[in-house]
Amino acid sequence: MTNKPMAKKNTVPDITSRKGGVPLAVLTCYTAPMARLLDGHVDILLVGDSLGMVLYGMENTLAVTLDMMIGHGHAVAHAATQALVVVDMPFGSYQASKEQAFAACARVLAESGAQGVKLEGGKELAETIRFLTERGIPVMGHVGLMPQRVQQLGGYRYQGRNEGEAAIIIQDALAVAEAGAFSLVVEGVREDVARQVTAQVRIPTIGIGASPTCDGQVLVIDDMLGMGGGRYPSFVKQYAHLSEAIEQAVKTYCEEVRNRTFPGAEHCYPFKKG
Ligand code: KIV
Repeated sequence: MTNKPMAKKNTVPDITSRKGGVPLAVLTCYTAPMARLLDGHVDILLVGDSLGMVLYGMENTLAVTLDMMIGHGHAVAHAATQALVVVDMPFGSYQASKEQAFAACARVLAESGAQGVKLEGGKELAETIRFLTERGIPVMGHVGLMPQRVQQLGGYRYQGRNEGEAAIIIQDALAVAEAGAFSLVVEGVREDVARQVTAQVRIPTIGIGASPTCDGQVLVIDDMLGMGGGRYPSFVKQYAHLSEAIEQAVKTYCEEVRNRTFPGAEHCYPFKKG
């Protein structure tokens, strides 16, 4: 399929200007071939630290390193000519101080070629986000369910379950937006919480498990393509079932190798005289 409607490279101001407009379509992406397929369709390619689980088989995202994010960020950023590329900052690379965060984010932008970084955190991270944005680092925020806090949370349960928790998420979102973030991922919250956040912040919200009230949506690419090993969160819609297609193709290949149907004559180099 080559029906790719967009032409120019999306910029950070292009994304911010989509507040309240046509919803932003965002997918995670970790490799160059996938970036080439998605580019021109999605508005943003997010090199999520979910790659630790999706690509490396880790139990959670905590062991993902800055070098891993830079490597995958470079692959995606150099393959994408139209989508804005944002790279997740891994756990431990930005929480200690605003100076630590600046050094790590500057490395990511310089070495990967991406246009922005994403940081998980609310009020407690606002000072760091202000420090970064005042120094030229475009920041996408991330509030609600923050997977890098999985040990503290005891799992990936949705957040904002009561009025008190909901109020904290709204305050977090406002603090991150006021600190200068250009967009905000809102993960794993009730619809009314996502609606209030979206209504109150001046930047586009990008929901994942956060209802259609957000200014855009993001999904993990392997989940929406049905490559996630059969277990998916309830908010995921599977647009394809690629695991089954891959398994079937591999089964057929193995059968054809074993019964000598493959390679056929058309897969062999022709004999040329002289
Ligand atoms: O790491 C990731 O892929 C993410 C998205 C799912 C929002 O943070």
